[in-house]
Parts: sequence; structure tokens; C-alpha cells
Amino acid sequence: MNKIAFIGTGNMGGAIVRAVCKTIDPQKVYISNRSHNKAEDLAEECSCRVCYDNLTAAKGADFIFLGVKPWQIIDVIREIDAVLTGREVIVSMAAGVPGYAMAEALPKGNAVIRILPNTPSAIGEGLVLIAPHDNAEESMVRELEEILAGCGMLGRTDEEHAEAGMTVGGCTPAFTYIFIEALADGGVRAGLKRSDAMLWAAQAVAGAAKMVIESGEHPGALKDAVCSPKGATMEGIKTLEMNAFRGGVMEAVVVAAKRSAGLA
Ligand SMILES: NC(=O)c1ccc[n+]([C@@H]2O[C@H](COP(=O)([O-])OP(=O)(O)OC[C@H]3O[C@@H](n4cnc5c(N)ncnc54)[C@H](OP(=O)(O)O)[C@@H]3O)[C@@H](O)[C@H]2O)c1
Repeated sequence: MNKIAFIGTGNMGGAIVRAVCKTIDPQKVYISNRSHNKAEDLAEECSCRVCYDNLTAAKGADFIFLGVKPWQIIDVIREIDAVLTGREVIVSMAAGVPGYAMAEALPKGNAVIRILPNTPSAIGEGLVLIAPHDNAEESMVRELEEILAGCGMLGRTDEEHAEAGMTVGGCTPAFTYIFIEALADGGVRAGLKRSDAMLWAAQAVAGAAKMVIESGEHPGALKDAVCSPKGATMEGIKTLEMNAFRGGVMEAVVVAAKRSAGLA
């Protein structure tokens, strides 16, 4: 692989560039962004190459990542078509734009792979789900997995489950930041210093998440292990349940998935 291009290096595209440049020689990574200063700053941070237009970034690339907003994807594909040969693999991180819509906009028959990433990829603690369109070969997906190895956990999904996967993976960091902030606010109400409350809440959330992944236990069983009879945790859980905590979270995931499907 000689060249990887990123077009659109905002919050999500930038997070993936940061991870990729730790795995792949950054001199093979070419980035372009509408506001040039954003790409320049990122290129300086990651020691990768900055391009001042999308065609220069895309020309001769083996993989072209599209990190623009969903409603901009097709326009960018049409723009770069002038330099495509048909061999480049187009990787879209956009919510709500199905693989077939991008394939239809690519007259030279480029393979299309959707990825459903999240921003903790920037520090190697992300989740990236890969949903290949049916014109992508297995060897292309494997090569993409190598490129993305530094993002964190990789998984595979398909078009049917893409928006639900995007929501559980992509939106959960934002849901969790609110939860951590609320835990810390509660800690401050209970008398802790803000800085202590924030750090301790974040570590408790990170530790609980790791317990679920590493122990393989059901979260309900792990919850039971924290709750003693007549204990403090059970009082807190009763309050969360009375305030429809679980129902609220479930509804948030479902409405976000519906919104995601409509974004293009
Ligand atoms: N944010 C997430 O957590 C997340 C998670 C999963 C998937 N996604 C997907 O990732 C994509 C980007 O979202 P985001 O949150 O990263 O948005 P963002 O921060 O606004 O990034 C989009 C970037 O694209 C640039 N851009 C716009 N038009 C361009 C063009 N014609 N050529 C080159 N660059 C262009 C923008 O440049 P300017 O600096 O000029 O605005 C901006 O930096 C979306 O499709 C979204 O669905 C995001």
C-alpha cells in the first residue's frame, strides 16, 4: 500500500487519522479538508502530508476515506471521480448513506466499504464497525482492518444493521460523557471537589466497561455484585429506575438510529 487519503478531517476523520498514523507510515497518509488550517494542524501533529485540494489527496490513493457530512458525500465522490481509476477503495464513515448509493455514484466501479466508527479511536480505544458493500472483496476488507488496527476494537456488520451499529458505537461516547458529568455533579453535591469527582467518575465508568468486556459476565450479574442488602448502591439504583433511566437510554438509541438513517 502506497497511499491512503482522507478527505474531511473534522472530529471523526481527524480521530481516525490520529490512529492510522500510529500504525501506518504517516508519510503515506495524505489529508485534505475544506478549511486548510484544520488539515495543516493535524498534519503537523501526526507528521502526515497535507493536500490543498481533494483531487490531489485522492489521486493514486489505494484507500480514500471520506470524512465529510452525510449530505456532502455524493458531491465529494463526483468531485474526485476525475482522478479515480476504479481501483481505489472508497471508505465512507458517513451515517445514513447506504453503500449502494455511493457505488451508484462511482461510474468506474470502485469498491465501497462503510465504516461506523467512534471518536475514542483517536486514542486507540474506539470501536469501528466495518460494513462492506457487496462490490468489496474480502482482501480489501482485510487490508482495511490492518489500516484501522490502531483505532481499537474492530467488528463487522452489514448494511441492514449499519445505523443501529453506528448509534450504539458512534453515539455512546456522547451519551457517556453526559453520564460522567452527571455522576460528577452528584459527587460535587455530595461534597467532593469537582476535579476529584470528574476523574473518579470517569475511571469508574471505564473500569465497569472493561469488566463487562473482560469478564464476559452479564452486566446484571456484575451489578448484583455491587449491591448489598439494604445498601447504598441499591438506593441509588431505585432512584435511577424511578426516573426511567433504562427506558430513557433505550429510547435514545432507537431515536438516534432513526435519525441516522435520515441524515443523507
Ligand atoms: N462525530 C462522530 O462521533 C461521528 C461518529 C461516526 C460517524 N461520523 C460521521 O463522520 C462524518 C464527519 O462527521 P464529523 O462529526 O467529523 O463532522 P465535522 O467535524 O464537521 O467534520 C467534517 C469535515 O469535513 C470537512 N469538509 C466539508 N466539506 C468538505 C469538502 N468538500 N472537502 C473537504 N473537506 C470538507 C469540514 O471542513 P471545515 O473545517 O471547513 O468545516 C470538516 O472538517 C459524518 O459523515 C458523520 O456521519 C461521525
